[in-house]
Amino acid sequence: MRAVVLTAHGDLDTLVYRTDWPKPAPGPGEALIRIRACGLNNTDVNTRTGWYAKGVTGATTGGPLDGSDIGNPTWGDAPISLPRIQGADACGFVEAVGEGADPALIGRRVLIDPWFRDWADPHTLEKCTYFGSERDGGFADYTVADAHNVHPIDCDLTDAELATFACSSMTAENMLNRAAVTAGDTVLITGASGGVGSALIQLARRRGAVTVALCSEAKAAAVAAIGADAVLPREPADLKAALRGAIGRDTVTVVADVVGGPYFPTLIEALARGGRYTCSGAIAGPMVQLDLRTFYLNNLAFFGATILPPGVFADLVGYIARGEIKPLLAATYPLERLKEAQTAFIAKRHVGNIVVTME
Ligand SMILES: NC(=O)c1ccc[n+]([C@@H]2O[C@H](COP(=O)([O-])OP(=O)(O)OC[C@H]3O[C@@H](n4cnc5c(N)ncnc54)[C@H](OP(=O)(O)O)[C@@H]3O)[C@@H](O)[C@H]2O)c1
Repeated sequence: MRAVVLTAHGDLDTLVYRTDWPKPAPGPGEALIRIRACGLNNTDVNTRTGWYAKGVTGATTGGPLDGSDIGNPTWGDAPISLPRIQGADACGFVEAVGEGADPALIGRRVLIDPWFRDWADPHTLEKCTYFGSERDGGFADYTVADAHNVHPIDCDLTDAELATFACSSMTAENMLNRAAVTAGDTVLITGASGGVGSALIQLARRRGAVTVALCSEAKAAAVAAIGADAVLPREPADLKAALRGAIGRDTVTVVADVVGGPYFPTLIEALARGGRYTCSGAIAGPMVQLDLRTFYLNNLAFFGATILPPGVFADLVGYIARGEIKPLLAATYPLERLKEAQTAFIAKRHVGNIVVTME
């Protein structure tokens, strides 16, 4: 089958397009899926470049990184084995099932929940692994997945549109769940033009919360069209004044952050007493300054959000099928042009997500 395999940690040339990769066979309890489309994510880039290594202190760049040889270069507790097929956001059709998996899945269009777990012990985070990281993912003609992770979906969206959702939208929903966001909250969203940020806008509004989006000025109109109640520049010099102008008060109840970096202290100062900070990314840099007085004097709560509890992905599939959240498909590339797709993804001139398709 065709596949793009990550052969080493390094530059884009470590991604190699192959036409002779072995087609997997479904084991007991698994489904074989013919993939139609798969979305890109920063975790593909971060794993390739070794950005997760503790020696790296700067922003995600997509290029070589100082310190990537110090510590584990991948997100989990241990390095992943290479070569590896990356790609977390797969949409495809079930072609066969292994022993014990429901044959009714055959022929269904499905999304794959990227969080694989021990279904006898599904809440133990240490046992969770990620599709396209600890196991092969969706940048290929075929994949196999635990049938528990295979979610049929019936709707009018294209395969490519469906491949925009998994990683970014489930992460956004988990961030909002962790911070218990409800109607009555005002949520300040960083990186609002990106995959997670745009999903945060839609999913927070779905709950009835007011959303304030931060994004670069060139993308402001597109971000407003997603439904943000207010759109501010990426890093307003006086955030409190900007908030006052936009929503009539200079604090928010929740910051939903995927950017981090030097602007982090300003975000924290914008939280009202009792405010919640929920975070799943640090694209501008993982090392931040925190004034602990602000944290404890204002009764703040901080939430990290990566591994989802079971059930969140199924909730998300329901929202998509019912049209409660919309896809933001910025561009598609054929599988063999994944490197070009990732170059465009890293350039960040797009709004939403970029997908490869397996025509
Ligand atoms: N924990 C998890 O499970 C998980 C899951 C998904 C993503 N993530 C992480 O979350 C972050 C965002 O992911 P994503 O998929 O939403 O990314 P994305 O689609 O690439 O969007 C990120 C957005 O952040 C803004 N941005 C980029 N670099 C920036 C910088 N240096 N300073 C300020 N803003 C910057 C850009 O918007 P503007 O140009 O409009 O400013 C960009 O659109 C990444 O770090 C990713 O690794 C984590």
